[in-house]
Amino acid sequence: MKDLEALRETLLADIAEAKDLAALDRVRVTALGKKGSVTARMKGLRELDGEARKAAGVALNALKDELAAALDDRRAILDGAAVEARLDQEHVDITLPGRAAPEGRVHPVSQVLDEIIAIFGDMGFSIAEGPDIEDEFHNFEALNIPPEHPARQEHDTFYFAPDANGVRKLLRTHTSPVQVRSMQAHGAPLRIISPGRTYRCDSDQTHTPMFHQVEGLVIDEATHMGHLKGCLADFVTAFFEVGDVPMRFRPSYFPFTSPSAEVDIGCTRKDGTLSIGGDGSDWLEILGCGMVHEKVLVNCGIDPAVYQGFAFGIGIDRLAMLKYGIADLRGFFDADLRWLRHYGFAALDVPTLPAGLAR
Ligand code: DAH
Repeated sequence: MKDLEALRETLLADIAEAKDLAALDRVRVTALGKKGSVTARMKGLRELDGEARKAAGVALNALKDELAAALDDRRAILDGAAVEARLDQEHVDITLPGRAAPEGRVHPVSQVLDEIIAIFGDMGFSIAEGPDIEDEFHNFEALNIPPEHPARQEHDTFYFAPDANGVRKLLRTHTSPVQVRSMQAHGAPLRIISPGRTYRCDSDQTHTPMFHQVEGLVIDEATHMGHLKGCLADFVTAFFEVGDVPMRFRPSYFPFTSPSAEVDIGCTRKDGTLSIGGDGSDWLEILGCGMVHEKVLVNCGIDPAVYQGFAFGIGIDRLAMLKYGIADLRGFFDADLRWLRHYGFAALDVPTLPAGLAR
């Protein structure tokens, strides 16, 4: 019994002196662990008999309870100390100045591009890409524009000097060659948009030599002109975020679609600004579209007896002008920081349909 008292005192002292939770746990293991001193004595009870075993058992159990309570108390104290120590180390210096807002602005073209991608992405379109430097096959021939076709002249193409074999590359005049590349690579069915830069030798208030388009292409077995109109009407409503955008489908001609149409948006130009709607006196053409021509399907290895589809090509810069009231396209590419600060968008506002396209 005497040495039990000595053990008790040593263990209680060790517990009281444990400096941290790890040290405390080591004390617990030396006393109550599998090979601990108290555990060993419990096992030793077997060798005693009768009354002696009973008395020793009671004393040992009392000691176990006392140790458990002492461990709990010490643990609570050390826990508190650990929190205090952490609080001491981690602090927020509330005297620091706030962080400056990011300085750069997102160009209206990039903004509109992100908006377009959000809208068509939501409709299930995926994004396809093609090269800016194209060949005549993808830019013209596969799209049913043979060399002698008058549409070639209309495109005011920038050609590169011919190579040793007399083959001329060119800067793509539209994003339509990506239709060809996508059909060749993936076949049908297909549902893609392809945004990118396009080039034509042309410059005035609504034309720049480099501009942006987004191509759309849907190929499957059942698509018709009604789907095309519905798709574009939904797009225009989502993009302009107003219910009644004046929209006009004009019959038109493109070699790669039949039937073809051009779509205009009603607008008003006044005092250097451009706004949607108004008295219906002015229209801005924003896109061309139509049902994909049979010959184009054949050129791209798709069977026109099974598949059909629609396509459209939208002028991204035009959309940006209309939505954000920018009357002159040329300012878009002057790289003037004052212009960008005025017309640009906050860098961290990524357009999504649920959160709103532009804030
Ligand atoms: N590629 C035409 C252009 O730049 C626009 C266009 C018209 C694209 C009709 C299409 C379409 O996909 O179906 O003028």
